[in-house]
Amino acid sequence: MILFYMSIQEPVQSKEIRQKFVEFFKRKEHVVLPSSSLVPQNDPTALFNVAGMQPLVPYLMGKPHPDGGMLTNSQKCFRTVDLDNIGDNTHCTFFEMLGNWSLGTYFKKEAIAWSYEFLTKELQLDPERLLATVFEGNETVPQDDEAIALWKETGLPEDRIYPCDAEENWWPDYGASGPCGPDSEIYYDLKPGAPHTNPAYDGQRYIEIWNLVFMEFTCDGEGNFTKLEKKNVDTGGGFERFAMILQGKSSVYETDIYDAYFSLLSQALSISYPAYEKEWESMSQDEQETTKRLRIIVDHIRAATHLIGDGVSPTNEGRGYVLRRIIRRAVFSQVLLAEGSKVDFTSLVDAVVENYKEVYPILLERRDTIVSTLSQEVEKFTKTLQKGRKLLESKIHELKNIHASVLSGEHAFELYDTFGFPLSLTKEIAELHKIEVDEDGFGLAMAGQKKRSREGSKDMFSRGKEHVQTMLHGLPKTVFKGYEYAQNSSLPLLVHEAKVLQVIALEEGVHALICDETVFYAESGGQVGDAGTIMIEDILFVVSDTQKYDDVIVHFGGFDGVDVGNLMGKGAHLAVDEDRRKRVMASHTAAHLLHTALRKHLGDTVEQAGSYVDQYRTRFDFSFGRALTKVEISQIEEEVNSVIEAWQPVTKEELSMAEAKEKGAIGLFTEKYGDTVRVVAIGGTYSVELCGGTHVSNTSEIGIAKVFKDSSVASGVRRIEMATGRNVHEYMIEADGILDRLQEETKAPSSTALVEKIVGQKLKIKELESEMVSMKKEVAKGQLGALSDRVQDINGSKVLVALVEASNPGEIKEMAGMIRSQNMASIGLLVSKDGAFVLFSDSDDLSAKVLFNTIKTTTGGNGGGNDTMVQGVGMDVEKAMKVNVL
Ligand code: SER
Repeated sequence: MILFYMSIQEPVQSKEIRQKFVEFFKRKEHVVLPSSSLVPQNDPTALFNVAGMQPLVPYLMGKPHPDGGMLTNSQKCFRTVDLDNIGDNTHCTFFEMLGNWSLGTYFKKEAIAWSYEFLTKELQLDPERLLATVFEGNETVPQDDEAIALWKETGLPEDRIYPCDAEENWWPDYGASGPCGPDSEIYYDLKPGAPHTNPAYDGQRYIEIWNLVFMEFTCDGEGNFTKLEKKNVDTGGGFERFAMILQGKSSVYETDIYDAYFSLLSQALSISYPAYEKEWESMSQDEQETTKRLRIIVDHIRAATHLIGDGVSPTNEGRGYVLRRIIRRAVFSQVLLAEGSKVDFTSLVDAVVENYKEVYPILLERRDTIVSTLSQEVEKFTKTLQKGRKLLESKIHELKNIHASVLSGEHAFELYDTFGFPLSLTKEIAELHKIEVDEDGFGLAMAGQKKRSREGSKDMFSRGKEHVQTMLHGLPKTVFKGYEYAQNSSLPLLVHEAKVLQVIALEEGVHALICDETVFYAESGGQVGDAGTIMIEDILFVVSDTQKYDDVIVHFGGFDGVDVGNLMGKGAHLAVDEDRRKRVMASHTAAHLLHTALRKHLGDTVEQAGSYVDQYRTRFDFSFGRALTKVEISQIEEEVNSVIEAWQPVTKEELSMAEAKEKGAIGLFTEKYGDTVRVVAIGGTYSVELCGGTHVSNTSEIGIAKVFKDSSVASGVRRIEMATGRNVHEYMIEADGILDRLQEETKAPSSTALVEKIVGQKLKIKELESEMVSMKKEVAKGQLGALSDRVQDINGSKVLVALVEASNPGEIKEMAGMIRSQNMASIGLLVSKDGAFVLFSDSDDLSAKVLFNTIKTTTGGNGGGNDTMVQGVGMDVEKAMKVNVL
């Protein structure tokens, strides 16, 4: 659709829109912020940035922002709530949100006037095509008459201002925790002419382009709203949607933002992109399907490029799983579009990098990593698809053999769960064979699995942890005393007196406790948070985890039946679970040793890709392109243990960035470490790393280290898991138990004799197997002799109907094969005593299938096959023996 007013000027390039937006608000005295990463930096509970305001939450809650109270930017965002809508005209997973914020400065008047000015003057949108919705009011706030009046002041007539309920005009969801408020949404009329209706409810005609949130409250997630000290404004304009309108397109995907991707894809797949030729409504169903699939590939690869650029790798959980899912969806959309075609996703990545390199330079810096991560994942999934496909085809074959026409939901789910084989692909392939898929069964199997994984993964605090962040406003930075205690051996290890600042009830018996000082280490840098106890007078608080939110350290645990309001300001006696912490420290120091050993043996290209240390193990992820050999693993294990044995001191120092670099420290040198950094050194210069974690003082405290698992976590990323100290002992006890059991079962006199015994038994099994095969052949030959007497000559054909000795259908089939290869009979029906049968016909005039259908009415039985052979089960033996096959 070409908009009338556009015909008098060149369509605006998308890059200009971004520019115009920030320049406009800069002129209105806003400070332009850079976009944050898609991975939230200060919020461990959120997977991705889903809105421009997300990185600003602490400031919207009242914390002063270093750049003042008037901000603007273009923020990259990623949402998967609408995954099933991707491919329609307006939804994308990755998108850019153009935003302006007031942190306690201006409010509704300016927000409304400026948005109207920007749209009508700066972008020159036709004012006649703009509409607004406002909040209609509820028990928390009355109808937003102020916004209605302000809209009218801009010139928007009353009949284009629609009040709506909290479902539409409240941000975020009504009742969700965090800063929130009523909003006013601006819509654009795509099909002007007919009388207006409420734009919130007609997605075909109107498109929402900008949301202005008047953030006045904070909600605790339990239905309680508190007024914020200062009122804020949070706005979000859809960059892609602005481009769609200004370029006169009916979908975001036809804007210049996407042009390069569609032309690359069309070439690679030799398919044209239907949406360049036709409107959605006038497309055939096939064309709509093709459009949707091409859009999915483009959207998902664009998003994957940005996600990998921001440090996400494909894995099986959390962010990595989301990334894996969209890459897989892109691959199978391609398979559905043009099977056998090969799309070079690298060229798409390069097009994305080219498109965004000026706004998001990280893409250019990490281009090679993005390409290799994506290609490896695509290759892996392609192989998986092939495996899944083989399995599906064999299942379909089995079904056809027994004339069944429905693939069970469990089978379809197994394909999905184990092979990542999407239901749509299963359905498509099954349909080719006229097999239906039980989708309800699939849904049930899926629901069952989701429930299991929810039960498995949600610990009792996780819900509370998500909420607590919004309730810490105004609390001072917690002073962490744990380092000093660890340094000074005359102090008891981890006991400390502090003062209770805040207790927050999260749910029944679950609380967050914050003190002015603490010795509990909060989870960070891959080290698990501490557990232990806190006594407040005679009340015991058992801490099961410690987390940090910005600078505030929060102890999670529970009080039972205590009035927590009385605890504020009281003295608290903190004691970290010492045994657990000692094990964690040993794990952490061992992780540093492992890091050095890996680089020594595998080369300096090995880079840490993540780690997690707790009281049980060290889990260390690193970049390396192949599996380690057993020899390499034992060399690395040996190296780590030799340093442990050598009683090397572990020192911790606060140094300037320059001093740390001079010492050769490895780790992430980013400004987030500030001017001084903490350096942990083992054995002088053997291992020098930037690290905020807690460590033993001497390597001998680790005792011993043992690698117990080596695996791959993502393309080009390996994982080593190692146990230390007493954990190794526990590991040995377990391994010993298994050895004992094996010894008992095999009756080996000692563990060394066990291997010989097992090898001997394997040989014996092989011998017995081959003996059995020859015996079976003998039996079959014997039977053949007897059977040849039963062959009858009927009308010139040799016909055999016989009861045979066989313990499974395969044996009957083998026997039939021998009969046919010796030309003993050209037509035969062999039945075992339990009703399994093979019916063959080598006669051109008689199809085995036809024959089976004829005799089945008398003999019964279920089976399938082709014109030369039918096999199956359930035949009535007596009736079969009497059947006249001709
Ligand atoms: N946070 C609001 C939204 O995402 C406005 O930016 O719609």
